[in-house]
Amino acid sequence: MKKYIMGNLKMNFDYQDLKKYLNELTPFLKQTKNQVVIFPSFVGLAQTKEKLKNTNIFIGAQNVSENEKGAFTGEVSAKMLKSFNVDYVLVGHSERRKHFFENDSKINQKIKLLLKYGIKPVLCVGETEKQRLQNKTNEVLTNQLIKALKGIYENELESIIVAYEPVWAIGTNKTASEKNVLEAIKHIKNVIKQNYSLTASNNLVVLYGGSLKSSNAKNFLSHKEIGGALIGGSSLKVEEFAKIILEN
Ligand code: PGA
Repeated sequence: MKKYIMGNLKMNFDYQDLKKYLNELTPFLKQTKNQVVIFPSFVGLAQTKEKLKNTNIFIGAQNVSENEKGAFTGEVSAKMLKSFNVDYVLVGHSERRKHFFENDSKINQKIKLLLKYGIKPVLCVGETEKQRLQNKTNEVLTNQLIKALKGIYENELESIIVAYEPVWAIGTNKTASEKNVLEAIKHIKNVIKQNYSLTASNNLVVLYGGSLKSSNAKNFLSHKEIGGALIGGSSLKVEEFAKIILEN
């Protein structure tokens, strides 16, 4: 089954690093049966798009402004990303929630602007370790989803992918168990069923992200409920990432 394999390069790779990385990765990208999306930094978007123009690979941005246009020094708008043919944008990643105070209402505004400009948001949700230990995982997921999707219509949901990324599993080498992930995805789908419909819930693609590697990705991807993977650290290593994208 075709899965989404998304590589979040975060704030790594300058021009030369990215050139080398894309040169080495492209032969593998041409062989994959999965839907791969690469998320370089803003300054790497044009370079990545150009390099991947003859492949079926999509490109994504790691962030977007919650404002549409104007005097917002340093920001990048959804319209600008569209003009670079960006296909996906990460929204609500836990690093942005933590370091840049991205709250649910900003996330909601970002999603609305992305949809307006025809870009697909990848909405990241997930609990902290403390929240999990306090048995608050479901409550946190419900809250994040409801607030991020406020005012979003059912037909627009088709353009949104959700990534379940428990905060304690990101960049920590602590992967969530398959059971944890399946339970969280079931809950996410339930929230969508209750707030939209069974069809919307069935159609929603939910990815898992958090310390995935080539040695464990296959186990997760073998579940039909898990629509794919959002990969940080392991996407930076061509050999590792290539093994994951060629999985299936
Ligand atoms: P990781 O990052 O694979 O390094 O844990 C995942 C992410 O940040 O999306």
